[in-house]
Amino acid sequence: MPEPELQVSTDGVVTLKPPRDGDAQLLVAGRDEEFFKWLGPGGESPSPVACIWVGTELVGWVDYDLEHDWLQPGEVNVGYYVFPGARGRGYASRAVELLLVHLLEHTKHTTATLVIRRENVRSLRLAHRLGFVQHGELDRGLFLVREVGSIS
Ligand SMILES: CC(C)(COP(=O)(O)OP(=O)(O)OC[C@H]1O[C@@H](n2cnc3c(N)ncnc32)[C@H](O)[C@@H]1OP(=O)(O)O)[C@@H](O)C(=O)NCCC(=O)NCCS
Repeated sequence: MPEPELQVSTDGVVTLKPPRDGDAQLLVAGRDEEFFKWLGPGGESPSPVACIWVGTELVGWVDYDLEHDWLQPGEVNVGYYVFPGARGRGYASRAVELLLVHLLEHTKHTTATLVIRRENVRSLRLAHRLGFVQHGELDRGLFLVREVGSIS
């Protein structure tokens, strides 16, 4: 079954919107060394589930996918990236919360998972802030999970 398109959603500070024509270029332009370090080379036409907006500014993206052999039924793998100038203000945390609400309300997925390298301190801080709990370790990093319906 295809994944449902994300509806525009906001918590009053951050707004999630599906990518529009032209957003891919902005997402590529917003990559810095942290992107390549933690997320790899990245494609030239990124199409995440949602772009993160603060007012009229595109500040990053959140995404989820199902194509990993370590995922159990009900689990999705979540990823995120915030442009360097927009970090340290809680936007990524807010965006992930909004993505989990989308998963809860519009999909049958029950559990969000993250794979984070031990050295990626900012991402681990975000995960713990949002109530993700470590469930072991994979080759590519620590494996953390959170039910989509729980409150952080
Ligand atoms: C991982 C990443 C998204 C985290 O970004 P971030 O801005 O630090 O994350 P948050 O949105 O949780 O913001 C947390 C910071 O905002 C501050 N903050 C301010 N208001 C806040 C609020 N309302 N809620 C939460 N945090 C808030 C926090 O104190 C924290 O500050 P600190 O960095 O000085 O401790 C970012 O570093 C990034 O894009 N990294 C590269 C990509 C990456 O690693 N992706 C994940 C791969 S597993």
